[in-house]
Amino acid sequence: MKQLRVLALVNENLVPPESLDGSTDKEIDEWKTEYDVITTLREMGHQVEVLGLSDDLTPIRHAILKRKPHIAFNLLEEFHGVVTYDHAIVSYLELMRQPYSGCNPRGLLISKDKALSKKILSYHRIPSPKFSVFPLGRKVVRPKKLKFPIFVKSVIDDASLGISQASVVYDDKELAERVAFVHEHTLADALAEEFIDGREFYVGVLGNDRLQTMPVWELMFTKSDAPLIATRKVKWDRSYQERLGVKTDHAQDLSPTVEKQIARICKRVYKALDLSGYARMDLRMRADGRVYVLEANANPNLSFGEDFAESAEKVGLSYEDLLSKIIGLGLRYRAPWK
Ligand SMILES: Nc1ncnc2c1ncn2[C@@H]1O[C@H](COP(=O)(O)OP(=O)(O)OP(=O)(O)O)[C@@H](O)[C@H]1O
Ligand SMILES: [Mg+2]
Repeated sequence: MKQLRVLALVNENLVPPESLDGSTDKEIDEWKTEYDVITTLREMGHQVEVLGLSDDLTPIRHAILKRKPHIAFNLLEEFHGVVTYDHAIVSYLELMRQPYSGCNPRGLLISKDKALSKKILSYHRIPSPKFSVFPLGRKVVRPKKLKFPIFVKSVIDDASLGISQASVVYDDKELAERVAFVHEHTLADALAEEFIDGREFYVGVLGNDRLQTMPVWELMFTKSDAPLIATRKVKWDRSYQERLGVKTDHAQDLSPTVEKQIARICKRVYKALDLSGYARMDLRMRADGRVYVLEANANPNLSFGEDFAESAEKVGLSYEDLLSKIIGLGLRYRAPWK
């Protein structure tokens, strides 16, 4: 790939240092994705300008006009501290006629809203757990079709915010309590879903029109019988991960037919939700083999060694190859202004 001018857009608090020297593991965890992407792009010979942002779009405009970047590498996950504003930044890039990496505004807007996404999946007959939405400030009345156990989460939050073992509820009293907890702690509507007991899979998808899926990746607890739920602690607490033996790896014992079926479902989700660039699908499979889509993550974690990059390695895409592909997809994405 020729040498490109890259404008890396990152959260102001996550601008990584030049090197890892002197940083603790905890500090590194905060900005590891930004560090990995930026240093690797530089090692690949690209000219990377890093722009830290919090609540002002003017620096983006200035950087685009002054540097004329070939591509903006979008690593922003919030604006003004609001996680659902990610689509607005990308819309602004489109208004500036600036090619960017990752998902388009429409796909970001749809996939961030788990309830809206599930309505669309249901229209396309893509299997996803039965659900009901309990809006902020309203009384919890469980529809009859929604049977216990039920999993309660926020409609918009990600990174397992507010998700713990207590997210699974077994009666109406627990349901009302957990919905109140989600309302209070995430300040968003609560989504209550049929709890899918079974294996948990993650599948990376790359593409705009022609899609490529990565091998099915599985979450496992190798040292504990704790219920298999990707709670906040499972995702982010290193010592807890050690204790449970949290591991993700290529899912074993899936027949080629099942692998193909899962890949097909993931591609259908990607198209149905209008995604582009790259995404990671979260799914679960019951003991009887039935597969359910939990959610689609547009612009998922791109850290070196994380599920997306690891599963890409498995099919021979090095971290550098993966970043090159993502940039290529960003440059080729047919935004309306083109
Ligand atoms: N219906 C369900 N049945 C069983 N487990 C579920 C269900 N919904 C969510 N979970 C568990 O909770 C985890 C987090 O849920 P989900 O992926 O919807 O939330 P998130 O906070 O957006 O996560 P992410 O970190 O992927 O953005 C899942 O990985 C899974 O372990
Ligand atoms: Mg998830």
